[in-house]
Amino acid sequence: MLLDIKNIDVLYDDFQVIWDVSINVNKAEMVAILGPNGSGKSTVLNTISNLVST
Ligand SMILES: Nc1ncnc2c1ncn2[C@@H]1O[C@H](COP(=O)(O)OP(=O)(O)OP(=O)(O)O)[C@@H](O)[C@H]1O
Ligand SMILES: [Mg+2]
Repeated sequence: MLLDIKNIDVLYDDFQVIWDVSINVNKAEMVAILGPNGSGKSTVLNTISNLVST
């Protein structure tokens, strides 16, 4: 397992935008995050990168 994200919630101040997201990435796997504008794709990646705190 290269990446194991479990049950993250993310809020900007008191406004929650991510609920209970989990992502597993194994060796030699490619995983895409799909969703409409504003659904939270960048927030999830920024959280994993520690640019946004959980
Ligand atoms: N810095 C921020 N402060 C407050 N709210 C934010 C901030 N960044 C994003 N949001 C809000 O969080 C929610 C998710 O936004 P995010 O940018 O993660 O979505 P996205 O899926 O990457 O959208 P897009 O497809 O437009 O890139 C939206 O409601 C957005 O308005
Ligand atoms: Mg984005």
